[in-house]
Amino acid sequence: MAVTDYSAINWLTRAFRRPGFWFILVILALITLLHYEEALAYPAFLSQLTANLSLDRHAFERILCMAPIVWAGFLFGWRGAFITSLAALAAMLPRAIFISLYPMDALFETGAVFILGNVLAANFHWLRKEREHRTQLEITQQELRTSEQRYRELFASAQDAIWLHDLEGNIITINKAAEKLTGYSVEELGKMNVKSFLSDESLDLAQQIRSKILNNEPVEQPYEQRIFRRDGSEAFIQLATSLILSDGKPVAFQHIARDVTEQRRMNENLRFYLQQAIRAQEEERKRISHELHDDTIQALVVLSRQLDALASGDKGLSEDTRLHLEELWQQTDNILRGVRRFSQDLRPAALDRLGMLPGLEWLAANLTEHSGIAAEVNLKGEERRLSEEAAIALFRITQEALRNVWRHSGATKAEITVEFDESKTRITISDNGKGFNLPGKIGDLAKSGKLGLTGMQERAQLIGGTLAVQSQPHKGTSVTVELPA
Ligand SMILES: Nc1ncnc2c1ncn2[C@@H]1O[C@H](COP(=O)(O)OP(=O)(O)OP(=O)(O)O)[C@@H](O)[C@H]1O
Ligand SMILES: [Mg+2]
Repeated sequence: MAVTDYSAINWLTRAFRRPGFWFILVILALITLLHYEEALAYPAFLSQLTANLSLDRHAFERILCMAPIVWAGFLFGWRGAFITSLAALAAMLPRAIFISLYPMDALFETGAVFILGNVLAANFHWLRKEREHRTQLEITQQELRTSEQRYRELFASAQDAIWLHDLEGNIITINKAAEKLTGYSVEELGKMNVKSFLSDESLDLAQQIRSKILNNEPVEQPYEQRIFRRDGSEAFIQLATSLILSDGKPVAFQHIARDVTEQRRMNENLRFYLQQAIRAQEEERKRISHELHDDTIQALVVLSRQLDALASGDKGLSEDTRLHLEELWQQTDNILRGVRRFSQDLRPAALDRLGMLPGLEWLAANLTEHSGIAAEVNLKGEERRLSEEAAIALFRITQEALRNVWRHSGATKAEITVEFDESKTRITISDNGKGFNLPGKIGDLAKSGKLGLTGMQERAQLIGGTLAVQSQPHKGTSVTVELPA
């Protein structure tokens, strides 16, 4: 089955809707009427004109047909001119063949009008397209100039330092904000290579980023770099880098840099403060736990023994008094167990006396005792002695992770795997519970008041480690903390 091409029909329908189409039709009809009206006499000036051009009246009318042809070309393109010239041909031919006294001449003239009309129309059409194209070009160039001007203003007035350097690192252009950042003037910077103010490790990172960008590999942006100012002091900048292409070839890099030295210093202070606060908290826990152990627990032990001795001794006590004493002994014993548990929770004695691994075993046993979740500790590799700070941090992270297993997972099993290899110490706390959907960043949980995982991450970072969480609904959860050896 043939497929109808609607584009020509559409074109015609659109042409019908334009007044120009009907106007051309009317003009053509009028010329045709004129052409076949023998009795008509031209006004004197027209007769004069045709005589001057050495044309007879009918030849003149044929030439007149070129006007609607060219006009149609102008309004509707080559298609319009061609259709109008066909209509003119159809209108002129009967006279040329059947009526004209010189049919050969008339046919020749009609054909010439047909060809010339189309050629002229095509030319006009081309000229118009050319003019439109030129106008469009001018508009684009103007827009380009405006946007370049805007970029220049932005470049000059930006608070962030912006510069362009070639593929070798020679600065091509740099803005005023860079003066404040580096201490060099714009003129001096314009003659410098970026290598002169990058530290060695920053230079390495710059090379890596450069080759990644050139190879079209993803780069995490913005990234941080350390630079040296003119006076030798160091500054930290946050950078965003992009490649500048010319004719599809890389020619330069553009950098936008923000001074984050102050912010970094504040973060470091905050971190230091946090570290001190955590140390103080641990010290305090240890002190209270030891005090409970050495004083309170000892006093309760003595009290409990005395009550026991009293209740079981033969001192002629009445049955009521003995029962009452036994009750008091029971209560003292309960209090004793409570205080022992509390003291252990604060700071397990195993952790201080025997080290991290027994501390973790105590955590596992404690979880099983209180929740019924089967928990075990597995050791891989040879145990290495860790600093007290690292051992306590790893213990606290595990404690918090197990608390989550108990509170949220609904698991039946939990596993603590401790791995020591040459370069790392790694602890993984995993469960076979219901899992959960992880947010984009662990820190996002803190916004909704969930501080456990965020705190674990902070503690890992404070000892130079990292924390990773893996979880999926119905597939359990595993928390891994890794510490370089
Ligand atoms: N082992 C786990 N199994 C299932 N869900 C978990 C597990 N660990 C954490 N989650 C989920 O992650 C959320 C965040 O845990 P996080 O420890 O940060 O906060 P929290 O336990 O809710 O509160 P907080 O620890 O501050 O008392 C939990 O609310 C829980 O939905
Ligand atoms: Mg928690």
